[in-house]
Amino acid sequence: MKTRILLSGCSGKMGHAVSALVAERDDCEICAGIDLSSTGHEGYPVYSSVFEFPGEADVLIDFSHPSVLSSLLEYGKQHHLPLVLCTTGYSKEQTEAVRAASAEIPIFSSGNMSLGINLLIELSKKAAQVLGEGFDIEIVEMHHNQKIDAPSGTALMLADAISEVEPHPMTYQYDRHSRRAKREHNEIGIHSVRGGTIVGEHEVIFAGHHEVIRLSHSAYSKEVFAAGAVNAAVFLSTQKPGMYQMSDLLSQT
Ligand SMILES: NC(=O)c1ccc[n+]([C@@H]2O[C@H](COP(=O)([O-])OP(=O)(O)OC[C@H]3O[C@@H](n4cnc5c(N)ncnc54)[C@H](O)[C@@H]3O)[C@@H](O)[C@H]2O)c1
Repeated sequence: MKTRILLSGCSGKMGHAVSALVAERDDCEICAGIDLSSTGHEGYPVYSSVFEFPGEADVLIDFSHPSVLSSLLEYGKQHHLPLVLCTTGYSKEQTEAVRAASAEIPIFSSGNMSLGINLLIELSKKAAQVLGEGFDIEIVEMHHNQKIDAPSGTALMLADAISEVEPHPMTYQYDRHSRRAKREHNEIGIHSVRGGTIVGEHEVIFAGHHEVIRLSHSAYSKEVFAAGAVNAAVFLSTQKPGMYQMSDLLSQT
């Protein structure tokens, strides 16, 4: 049986990428879309709110806007619908609301659905552990000029993962224009560049005494995120309530 996917943000750039990818697969289908706008040529019905969807779905994928989150959590809990949340830019309160909802429904949440980025995270943790205190850590991310949140959710995922393995608490220093002071060692500098059609670039710089190590990932197409989201949806549709992330998906394959 095909996994029936409800696609929130279906008319956006990522929504189109997910629709195109699902059309090529035979293990899943999009049963309806949620968006404020519709071309009428999606090949599935589009509703402006998830609560207008009259049918049944096995899982929801969201690539829309943080303001949509509360309705998705409410609908998910009411209908016991697993949620793959890919939107970035959630507030701390929203992240807590996601975690609370995961006591009732399965939720897969990742600021970056690409396999390569998840490998970059693991490599950055390893590098931080091996290099130790003699190296300053800076993260630089670059995205297209339409992106509304900064820094990227992925830059924060990288910083959080590195902080987890550091022996001392780390503080995040966003850009440096507002502060005239030498950098502290327990800082992770995070810098955002916006321009053109850059899909997504992340570089983690470990700057030591007379040597620098750089780990980086470049996404050349939104398809890498769409593929991760669809794989996560098929996986999540059969899981128990709880929080899931890319490492759970990878351990299944
Ligand atoms: N996790 C990942 O791997 C990953 C990858 C790429 C993008 N993203 C994130 O996904 C989100 C969407 O990215 P995009 O490039 O497709 O953006 P986009 O602006 O092209 O698309 C967003 C869509 O959401 C719709 N939308 C906005 N508010 C809505 C509302 N209240 N109700 C219904 N629909 C609404 C818009 O009409 C639009 O069609 C962003 O937060 C982006 O950062 C995450």
